[in-house]
Amino acid sequence: MNTLVSDASAAQPSDSSGDSDPMGRMLVIRGGRPLTGRVEVKGAKNLATKAMVAALLGETESVLRDVPDISDVHVVRSLLEVHGVTVTDEGDDVLRLDPSGAVSAHFEEIDAHAGASRIPILFCGPLLHLLGQAFIPDLGGCRIGDRPIDFHLDALRAFGATVEKLPSGIRLSAPAEGLHGADITLPYPSVGATEQVLLTAVRAKGTTELRGAAIEPEIMDLIAVLQKMGAIISYEPNRVIFIEGVDSLRGYDHRAIFDRNEAASWACAALATDGDIFVGGAKQPEMLTFLNVFRKAGGDFDIAEDGIRFRRGGALKPVVVETDVHPGFMTDWQQPLIVALTQAEGVSTVHETVYENRLGFTQALNKMGADIVVHPEGFASPERRVARRALEQAAVITGPTPLHGADVVVPDLRGGYSYVIAALAAEGTSHVRGVEIIRRGYEKFFDKLTALGADFDVVD
Ligand code: EPU
Repeated sequence: MNTLVSDASAAQPSDSSGDSDPMGRMLVIRGGRPLTGRVEVKGAKNLATKAMVAALLGETESVLRDVPDISDVHVVRSLLEVHGVTVTDEGDDVLRLDPSGAVSAHFEEIDAHAGASRIPILFCGPLLHLLGQAFIPDLGGCRIGDRPIDFHLDALRAFGATVEKLPSGIRLSAPAEGLHGADITLPYPSVGATEQVLLTAVRAKGTTELRGAAIEPEIMDLIAVLQKMGAIISYEPNRVIFIEGVDSLRGYDHRAIFDRNEAASWACAALATDGDIFVGGAKQPEMLTFLNVFRKAGGDFDIAEDGIRFRRGGALKPVVVETDVHPGFMTDWQQPLIVALTQAEGVSTVHETVYENRLGFTQALNKMGADIVVHPEGFASPERRVARRALEQAAVITGPTPLHGADVVVPDLRGGYSYVIAALAAEGTSHVRGVEIIRRGYEKFFDKLTALGADFDVVD
């Protein structure tokens, strides 16, 4: 048996939850067979959504290519549309964004379209420049800790914005003379806060100096987008970014950087299921850190012109991993890696240093037969680039443990993907509920599983 529902139907305008959304149902997975074949990755979720917001800053149309068909993109599209931006789907994963009709949106509309996304906060800078005000509802995103927005609000205040906290959300307003450049030091190299500063500083009057910036490849790609629009941004050593504000920006034409999180996820699926997966569109430079760990864990890979082939190189081996900001090992890579490490001979440790609650998903893996112990305070660890924070946790994974089918509920995007590959690696049948969350970041997910030979049904 194979899928009852294909991604063609899953891709209906279904971002709202509801019974009509097939991803709101459950996956019944019959595991125990390797995933083999080829999948393609498109533009990165964590760039495409930000580049779409950047289009608001242009005086002319923008064109974004390789846009992934994921629900986070649908949410940003809806938010742009309620703000008067015309978004046209040109086919072949190309979106055209025309900001010429941009208007202020009603709070209720923003709230209704924001869904579970945290992206609305990145609308603040562009809207403050365009309309002098912005509203943000309570923010969603994956349930992986508190995910505060203090760095964002402090940065916006530094640009001269007034921030008012209301029961329904946050209202921001720009001074009559507009936002001005600022000297900002982030307490931690936050991806979102760095993007906030970039999207605000490019049109602020004067120069902005950002210290402690995040330097993920998706941020460099956003800088490339903004430079195409007319921005002047220079990147200096030691996480310093200078932005010289300009009076106006134009639209861009840009192909989004590939989704290295999705590529790493399929690589771990090959490792966990003893499969052989070619990930079309994956590129080596942005994945160097992942590839090192993949190899140390017993994985083998071939770099080709058009992608990377992932498989086992022999028995899986335990590794010691610490998640970190770029160029460290990404927090989004640890969940699928942990599934593979349950099959390694020996004791692995994965230290989560970015989010405060990103190892909860391991409980369900234990239910499937894994031996994972979470240390909620983390471990004392050697020196690293970023100072230790109070929120760390660590997982100790002892393997190999055969996995068996179980009934599990998806907790968040990456945790949910991990459950699916654990179920595919396990002997017997698993029920994975709440799989709609996976559509936030994995496009054509059912079709890709089918292409790789997975045995599953989608049922109510
Ligand atoms: N933080 C604060 N205050 C802030 C902002 C962040 O304390 O104002 C803390 C967070 O609580 C967290 C740390 O800083 O402990 C890092 O957060 P960051 O701002 O870097 O994360 P983000 O921008 O909210 C993006 C991705 C995440 C990815 C992280 C780290 C998007 C939409 N999300 O989140 O992606 O894990 O960067 O690389 O770009 C995912 O794809 O599954 C995902 C969660």
